[in-house]
Amino acid sequence: MARLLDVLREELGLTGTKEGCGEGECGSCSILMDGVLVNSCLIPALQARGASIVTIEGLANDDRLHPLQKAFLECGATQCGICTPGMILAAVNLLDKNPQPSLEEIREGLSGNLCRCTGYLQIFEAVAKASRNEVAD
Ligand code: FES
Ligand code: FES
Repeated sequence: MARLLDVLREELGLTGTKEGCGEGECGSCSILMDGVLVNSCLIPALQARGASIVTIEGLANDDRLHPLQKAFLECGATQCGICTPGMILAAVNLLDKNPQPSLEEIREGLSGNLCRCTGYLQIFEAVAKASRNEVAD
């Protein structure tokens, strides 16, 4: 009955996934499980048995960052970084479903992820930039 979040961080050493509230409210622990964005603090590890899990560590391709990771860097969309991995995975999920979202759709797509630092504007800008393929190689 261990939480998936704890198994990822403590047993597998994948500390990119962060814990904020631990209650399913903040989205800091967001990961993709079988292609669905979930809060890993709410998932018993047993429930993930056999599932395909993507954490922030799985986005970069060798040394090449994912375009959304680059966009976050270019737009200054990260400060303390606690929300960033979950925010980026929520953005990956959004762009998979809707490659060219409007600003309203970006706000909606990231509405389950809270940030206490940035004021969100740089985050929305980063997602819009990635959606327009304007990220430097
Ligand atoms: S730590 Fe899981 S939603 Fe906040
Ligand atoms: S960068 Fe600190 S919570 Fe978002």
